[in-house]
Amino acid sequence: MLSIVLYTLRTGISPMPTLGKVRRQLLPLLEPDLEGTILELGAGWGTLAFALADRCPRAKVVAFELSPLPFAFCWLRQRLAPRANLELRRQDFLRASFSGAAVVVSYLYPGAMSRLAPKLLAELSPGTRVLSHTFALRGWKPLRTLVVDDLYRTPIYVYVVPGGFGRQGDPAAP
Ligand SMILES: C[S@@+](CC[C@H](N)C(=O)[O-])C[C@H]1O[C@@H](n2cnc3c(N)ncnc32)[C@H](O)[C@@H]1O
Repeated sequence: MLSIVLYTLRTGISPMPTLGKVRRQLLPLLEPDLEGTILELGAGWGTLAFALADRCPRAKVVAFELSPLPFAFCWLRQRLAPRANLELRRQDFLRASFSGAAVVVSYLYPGAMSRLAPKLLAELSPGTRVLSHTFALRGWKPLRTLVVDDLYRTPIYVYVVPGGFGRQGDPAAP
């Protein structure tokens, strides 16, 4: 319990899972035959990571989690019901390379989204999709925004990494 509190303070967010209604609207945004690497930034208890692995069996899901207890839970879950296409990493995603990813999925908080934005822009190829629910990437214009019919009217933002000169969100852009 103490480790959850400490890591919530360290990472800025608790391992709150993506709820069912949000999951049910987010997962169909990814084609079942999607190939390549899906990055799940902050796996928590694995709610979204395992669902992504099931939804896209031809893709490889790499799920990052720093907090030891949720990570141990994911690890145990993977031992008990392995997903061949799921890789769990106890690692700070801000220190990982995103290059080559096909899709990035996140449920984080505003501070993390601000730190993430320049990294996404620098490391992802133009055209890469970024799905984030609840929190937006400030300064980025979503391709689509879905609103979940739940208590919080949870927004799901679908972004596409822009390409070329003057990339959206690029502080150097005119
Ligand atoms: C709100 S939970 C989301 C859990 C899961 N993605 C889901 O949707 O069910 C966010 C998780 O991100 C983790 N986290 C936050 N910052 C992180 C970082 N820099 N590296 C790895 N994990 C991080 C937290 O420990 C927390 O478990």
